[in-house]
Amino acid sequence: MNQAPEAILLVGGKGTRLRPLTVRTPKPMVPAAGVPFLTHQLARARAAGVEHIVLATSYLAEVFEPYFGDGSDLGLHIEYVTEREPLGTGGAIRNVASRLRSGPDDPVLVFNGDILTGLDIPALVETHRSCDADVSLHLTRVDDPRAFGLVPTDGTGRVTAFLEKPQTPEEIVTDQINAGAYVFRRSVIDAIPTGRPVSVERETFPGLLSDGAHLQGMVDSTYWLDLGTPHAFVRGSADLVLGLAPSPAVPGRRGDRLVLPTARVAPGAKLTGGTVVAEGAVVAEDARIDGSAVLAGAVVEAGAVIFGSLVGEGARIGARTVLSGVVVGDGAVVGADNELRDGARVWCDAVLPAGAVRFSSDQ
Ligand code: GDD
Ligand code: MG
Repeated sequence: MNQAPEAILLVGGKGTRLRPLTVRTPKPMVPAAGVPFLTHQLARARAAGVEHIVLATSYLAEVFEPYFGDGSDLGLHIEYVTEREPLGTGGAIRNVASRLRSGPDDPVLVFNGDILTGLDIPALVETHRSCDADVSLHLTRVDDPRAFGLVPTDGTGRVTAFLEKPQTPEEIVTDQINAGAYVFRRSVIDAIPTGRPVSVERETFPGLLSDGAHLQGMVDSTYWLDLGTPHAFVRGSADLVLGLAPSPAVPGRRGDRLVLPTARVAPGAKLTGGTVVAEGAVVAEDARIDGSAVLAGAVVEAGAVIFGSLVGEGARIGARTVLSGVVVGDGAVVGADNELRDGARVWCDAVLPAGAVRFSSDQ
């Protein structure tokens, strides 16, 4: 087998939809199943044979290198390039071109930094080679494609249009979307304009298509999730723990729960549905936690009930409090006997007194 191509990982987005998780931590560094999410992507790329990866950073750029270093712990050689101003997806790809070692016709992998997927990376590279495409795109099918880039293809898989975030019903021409993994011919990267923001989705791909370039789609219906929203992030973390989403980087055995070494969970607490309890976190007696992530140093007091939620680093959830579909920011305190539901976001360091919020009425 040919050696796998080198790769670019786009990790500079602001992660706005994930706030408050991304107030202090860039999206790819928020822990999923016990390690920064990016670790799963790096480990999967390495397992596919990739050795050289360039991280295109912008928002909170300074946190990546201290954590991943030169990448040797993962068997990788990682380089970092930071944009002074965010350059958009295409601008970010172009901005790292000087670090690439590939020749003009060689394939270069590019990944969005917030995708959890079982994509067969070598198969995408093979599709690219056998079609002699300019860019090859991983495509997946979703029920509601409006939040994504729509990518209709012809009978041979050749891309016929690229419609980013369609606004009108007429634009929804397919349920095939851009899944955020590409193979670029190196020379296509070098042709992206420099020195200004460029969106690969809104400018580069439509421009290539109107110039007659060959964009090839590969529909792969394996596990796929964009972790851009709190709901999706919590789901992805639980799916990693459960073993539904593939990753060589989950720090423990797959199963109903993952408790990291220095966490303390009382014997009468119940952890299910892919719940992770991270380093130094404490879960007290009779707490029930399902499909959730309790980040490092957080405390869940006795009898709390937590479903599909994320409890940030060092946060505290009071006794008997109920959380369902909630994100609690780092360092926040939710006092005892609160009830928070569906999409509530408690900001970092906020303090909610005991009995302050509830949804249900008195019996
Ligand atoms: N370096 C850098 N600089 N990275 C950026 C920038 C930037 O200015 N802007 C975004 N990124 C990174 C983000 O960190 C993320 O990893 C990736 O580019 C995609 O950005 P998102 O903000 O997550 O985009 P999206 O989810 O709305 O849409 C994209 O992904 C969908 C699949 O999940 C598009 O590529 C869609 O076409 C696609 O369907
Ligand atoms: Mg995204």
